[in-house]
Amino acid sequence: MNDAVPGAASPGRTLDGPALERLYAYPDRPWLRANMVSTLDGAAAGNDGRTGTINTPSDLVVFTLLRDLADVILVGAGTARAEGYRHADTRTGDRARRAVAEGRAAQPEIAVVSGTGRVPPLLAGESHSGGGVLLVTCEAAGAPALERARRTLGEDRVLVCGEHTVDLAAAVAALVERGLPRILCEGGPRLLADVAAAGLLDELCLTLVPLLAGGTEQRIAVGTPADRPLVPGVIIESEGTVLQRWLRPGG
Ligand SMILES: NC(=O)c1ccc[n+]([C@@H]2O[C@H](COP(=O)([O-])OP(=O)(O)OC[C@H]3O[C@@H](n4cnc5c(N)ncnc54)[C@H](OP(=O)(O)O)[C@@H]3O)[C@@H](O)[C@H]2O)c1
Repeated sequence: MNDAVPGAASPGRTLDGPALERLYAYPDRPWLRANMVSTLDGAAAGNDGRTGTINTPSDLVVFTLLRDLADVILVGAGTARAEGYRHADTRTGDRARRAVAEGRAAQPEIAVVSGTGRVPPLLAGESHSGGGVLLVTCEAAGAPALERARRTLGEDRVLVCGEHTVDLAAAVAALVERGLPRILCEGGPRLLADVAAAGLLDELCLTLVPLLAGGTEQRIAVGTPADRPLVPGVIIESEGTVLQRWLRPGG
């Protein structure tokens, strides 16, 4: 445990729900946290190309908690397509009531990053109880794609950040400007590498599941070289699953 983490427990202590929530509380400033899961041999998905086959119940508890604590889930379009992302709707009961009492939305928004400006099909429809959807894209997507996205999501829900490529720093600034400072990046590997390379990663939550997968699945960050050191914040073991928080040095 790292003393710098508010609410950190001491080694050997068992964490209940509220203690876990304190441990993962966002600081009181804009903050970009990523949450990823990996097998022991570094695969970021099961051999079927999805994370559902490597998740564990302990990982699901933290995955849900991190969504509930966030204002917005930033996700690559590739992941949204592969994992069948829908409008976020995990925040229930006390957590939903608390969010509303704090002047936040009942559910986190989903901000999909797509350089080509394509809204993943399952996020294109209306949702009555789920959170909203934003598209983060760039001018190079082209006028027809931008027009289509605006028709699908609404004029002010398409954030054009950058000319030739998506400027992720501008995207994060735009999300904060919209009143969404607690950002949770759920990958995928390409987006995570880009976020880290841009110097935007405050924290990596990494779940290590007790499985050696083999196969050819990619690592949790792939593509743009990032070379960002992180320091350990929290390490929790739960039924063989290791839940970790890694922080930006000095952050
Ligand atoms: N282990 C984990 O925690 C975890 C988390 C998430 C995903 N995954 C796995 O990762 C795999 C998906 O990988 P992926 O490489 O497709 O992930 P990804 O990073 O979600 O998707 C790449 C696509 O997202 C868009 N994108 C991402 N970063 C962008 C950027 N900086 N600028 C512009 N567009 C950007 C582009 O979409 P357009 O083509 O629309 O331009 C790109 O083709 C799946 O198997 C999934 O299960 C694992």
